[in-house]
Amino acid sequence: LLLIIVAVVLGLSLRQNTNKLKPTFIARCQEFKGYDCEKMWDVFEQAYVGRDPCDVPMEAYDPFIAAAPLKPACNRMMFWSKTKNLVHDFTEKRDCYVTVEDSLLGSVLDGLTWCGKEGSSETFTTGCPRWTDCVNNTVRSFWNRVSTAFADVACGDVTAMLNGSIVTPFHPASIFASIEVKRFDYPRVQSLNVVLVTQKKTVTNCTNASLKDLQKELDQGITYNCEEVTETQIQDCSSHPEKPCGACW
Ligand code: APR
Repeated sequence: LLLIIVAVVLGLSLRQNTNKLKPTFIARCQEFKGYDCEKMWDVFEQAYVGRDPCDVPMEAYDPFIAAAPLKPACNRMMFWSKTKNLVHDFTEKRDCYVTVEDSLLGSVLDGLTWCGKEGSSETFTTGCPRWTDCVNNTVRSFWNRVSTAFADVACGDVTAMLNGSIVTPFHPASIFASIEVKRFDYPRVQSLNVVLVTQKKTVTNCTNASLKDLQKELDQGITYNCEEVTETQIQDCSSHPEKPCGACW
């Protein structure tokens, strides 16, 4: 009897999880005007339903990306690596920069997990491969694809918030290093401004070896800048909307 109860509870909770992704997607999508969100969901699902969740290449999301093309916001585009919470706290409170998670495509799936299964037409939110379990997993391929699209429309002076509390702020395996930086083309992109977020007990500064690699990676013509900025300074700007964006650091 205990086994049956456990099985039923497990089954119910799994089913509940399964049904939560679509309402979240639709609700977040509706924050953006002019899109047919049911249609967006259908196009999204086509990328992975019925497929092995470890065998979804990033190209599978091409139709989804095409359904809501990313808009360039020259001089205001913000990239990041290992600084997610700080960056989004800042972009949420201040209208200075835009991240991919502020776009429709990034916003509808931010923080979510989903996958399909061979021989099934359902969307699952549990039992999906984790980020590093396999290269072509449903979630990772989506972020690779949407990040490619975001970097492809980057223009003017772009900013990247990197984490100065780790030894390798520009890590080769990150999306920022492995995908985004490679797609910054001169003269579409004029400069890359690294904001290296430091804390009281800081580990790195702008002379960091991985940042040398970043400079080497940049397309000829793109100007590189690096600034060490304390986390407190950024939080201060988040909570003082009267402070001009240009005075944040
Ligand atoms: N496990 C789970 N999720 C991961 C993992 C992992 N090992 N690695 C990355 N992610 C997901 C998480 O959602 C995480 O918040 O990718 C996000 C970013 O990972 P980071 O390593 O912090 O940074 P990076 O890989 O450089 O990606 C950030 O890509 O999303 C775009 O434009 C955005 O510039 C940004 C960059």
